Amino acid sequence: MDTRRSFLKKGTLAAASMAILPSCINISTIKARVPIRPAKIQKAAILWYSQTENTAKCGQVLAKTFEKSGITVISGDIRDIGNLKTDGIDLLVIGSPVFYYDTPDVVKDYLAGLPDLKGMPVASYVTFGGPEGNQHNAACSILEGLVQKNGVPVGLDAFVTISSYSLTYSTDDKNPMVEDHSILPDSTTYQSVRDYARFIQATIEKSQVSVFNKSLTFRESLTFFDLEYWVKRSVDNHSIIEENCVKCGTCTKLCPSGSIDLDTFSVDTTTCVLCLGCVNNCEYQAMSMEYSGKRVTGFKEYLENNNLQFDLPPELKT
Ligand SMILES: Cc1cc2nc3c(=O)[nH]c(=O)nc-3n(C[C@H](O)[C@H](O)[C@H](O)COP(=O)(O)O)c2cc1C
Ligand code: SF4
Ligand code: SF4
Repeated sequence: MDTRRSFLKKGTLAAASMAILPSCINISTIKARVPIRPAKIQKAAILWYSQTENTAKCGQVLAKTFEKSGITVISGDIRDIGNLKTDGIDLLVIGSPVFYYDTPDVVKDYLAGLPDLKGMPVASYVTFGGPEGNQHNAACSILEGLVQKNGVPVGLDAFVTISSYSLTYSTDDKNPMVEDHSILPDSTTYQSVRDYARFIQATIEKSQVSVFNKSLTFRESLTFFDLEYWVKRSVDNHSIIEENCVKCGTCTKLCPSGSIDLDTFSVDTTTCVLCLGCVNNCEYQAMSMEYSGKRVTGFKEYLENNNLQFDLPPELKT
């Protein structure tokens, strides 16, 4: 957590940059540092971080599309996969939700722990809940991490979904961002995901390398302000309601910061990164949270209350 001093410094820098710079300035160029390892893809790893399944479903569709063209695929959530053994892998794709206009730290940390990718083609995708969510830069951040490990960027894409940012349901049940996207991801989304898989495959077969630019947008500037810290100031009573909790372990499994202690039914709100994974996934209304004085309705509860169900794409129905 930032000290007040370092926070103010960051804030001043961001404000100054917004004031003196035109709206769209290139802040980094993501390009290969090593030659691409030429290959016909035989084995791919499609990994994601997902708290409410949007990113997971897109990853599963990507995996199925690659499998359909004869490629062997390792796929799963980075928390389940753990250390990736890259021997024999010809392609690595990493997916993540956009949280607070950025790639979550848990994903950045996972990328930092990857071994040398030695010219392996790499691609990223993000899912996001609303327009202007800084999704391009968030997907660039994933590629940046992969390039640091000598991956060679071949693709980047973003898929709009229903927002899982449950704090918005609790302040305004008619939140337009959620209403507009309440049926997403749908068949059009999944078609874009399949197209993306084919694009990646064709790009690698031609040994094409891509260059991506991260721009200084207004939303990118906001990432300097430690948004979680400020949102947390409006969050209260983040705790476990003991009599509702069945100790199913869902929240502890999903929590990226190990902030939940089921023995004492407590949440360490200083280490919590406010990803909302616990409140969004507890099926027993045992995870309590208030935002601006109102009870937070988790994502699953929101779907149930509004009778929202998602059609799975055909390849995920079996
Ligand atoms: C804590 C949190 C922060 C979010 N921040 C953003 C954001 O900055 N921009 C955006 O477009 N969507 C945002 N969203 C919406 C998610 O990116 C979107 O719903 C995503 O598909 C969730 O992925 P998942 O279901 O795989 O967890 C946020 C959601 C959460 C829970
Ligand atoms: S998800 Fe809910 S019911 Fe399950 S352990 Fe956590 S708080 Fe308890
Ligand atoms: S305790 Fe905080 S970091 Fe952990 S799952 Fe809940 S909101 Fe996310």
